[in-house]
Amino acid sequence: MYIYVPLDLFLAVSAITMAFNFHHIVALVMCLITISLSSFGISQSDEDLTKGASFIFGDSLVDAGNNNYLPTLSRANISPNGIDFKASGGTPTGRYTNGRTIGDIVGEELGQTHYASPFLAPNTTGRAILYGVNYASGGGGIMNATGRIFVNRLSMDIQVDYFNITRKQIDQLLGPSKAKEYVTKRSIFSITIGSNDFLNNYLLPVISMGARITQSPNSFVDDLLNHLRGQLTRLYQLDARKFVIGNVGPIGCIPYQKTINQLSEVECVSLPNKLALQYNARLKDLLQELNENLEGATFVHANVYDLVMELITNYAKYGFTSSSKACCGNGGQFAGIIPCGPSSSVCSDRDKHVFWDPYHPSEAANLIIAKQLVDGEKKYISPVNLRQLRDL
Ligand SMILES: *[C@@H]1O[C@H](CO)[C@@H](O)[C@H](O)[C@H]1NC(C)=O
Ligand SMILES: *[C@@H]1O[C@H](CO)[C@@H](O)[C@H](O)[C@H]1NC(C)=O
Ligand SMILES: *[C@@H]1O[C@H](CO)[C@@H](O)[C@H](O)[C@H]1NC(C)=O
Repeated sequence: MYIYVPLDLFLAVSAITMAFNFHHIVALVMCLITISLSSFGISQSDEDLTKGASFIFGDSLVDAGNNNYLPTLSRANISPNGIDFKASGGTPTGRYTNGRTIGDIVGEELGQTHYASPFLAPNTTGRAILYGVNYASGGGGIMNATGRIFVNRLSMDIQVDYFNITRKQIDQLLGPSKAKEYVTKRSIFSITIGSNDFLNNYLLPVISMGARITQSPNSFVDDLLNHLRGQLTRLYQLDARKFVIGNVGPIGCIPYQKTINQLSEVECVSLPNKLALQYNARLKDLLQELNENLEGATFVHANVYDLVMELITNYAKYGFTSSSKACCGNGGQFAGIIPCGPSSSVCSDRDKHVFWDPYHPSEAANLIIAKQLVDGEKKYISPVNLRQLRDL
């Protein structure tokens, strides 16, 4: 039985409390000061450019700080998020995990010299964009209505609009022909989206205007894929050619879902997982269709569902001690109700937990997932892995 209503309300209330917490405002002001003091100049050799760039689209799994600049209830620029993020010395950056996201690690593994920086950050300007740009936003989804509970977020339509802006800037920086070569040959477009379309749209109760009351799962999944087809096609029109698209993970196994449904350690909630699998099967078909129809483009399918499920099921094999309990969070058996923030309980062995918080994997889990995407086999990444995609 689903008992979302009171708990979602509770979540929203605790998020509001957090958003208006005094310390948070101080931290935001300090952060703005730091940014305005930091250097805007970037020295960049042509050699750096040949290492390529990532253009990252998606949700909180890969957001690197865009939501810091939005009036939203979904924010991660509060400690202890980022505690293990070396590039910031452990200061929160807006990433929804303790360290690097999958997008960060994939970029490193592919030899890129800088993390893709958040589109909304004021210093993501000039030649800095040639190192890659991140458009991802916590709470965002394929559908515009997804994540409305957070008041604000960048949905996928907007993220593509923003890339259209970046695309023109690359033209100005490099000239049209070099720019086109950079975008088609040296750039990887990664898209990690869809979880919120279920968690913060279809599965939400009536109060948040979820689509479930009016639509069958099949027709909702249809809508999702039709929108995604349009979004990927728009990126193609803007010269993107090397794509990697993640499917939706086992969202019924996240500590939040397991806690509110009062499951045991080894169970997962069946409806969210069933919906994810339904979407994932059709996503695979869509990518195959696009590979056939959009000339010169490669759409790589990242099987995040099976990868994360493998970590959850066989966690001990990978050196984890828990795949059910959030390292940072509170409430219920799996610390899965109150989001991670300054007053949360935090585990001491962060690299031994698959989940950092009620929703997101830890850096240790991200590392295993990212390495599989870069060099792994066809059951996880196909038709080619990301190292092969880069070298096409
Ligand atoms: C922008 O500023 C942040 C915060 O100071 C810094 O960490 C980041 O490296 C800067 N990014 C660029 C592209 O200069
Ligand atoms: C979503 O919002 C964008 C920007 O406001 C708009 O261009 C687009 O048409 C919207 N999509 C739908 C399906 O309503
Ligand atoms: C990009 O923006 C231009 C307007 O500047 C618009 O005409 C064009 O349709 C947009 N392209 C895509 C793929 O959205």
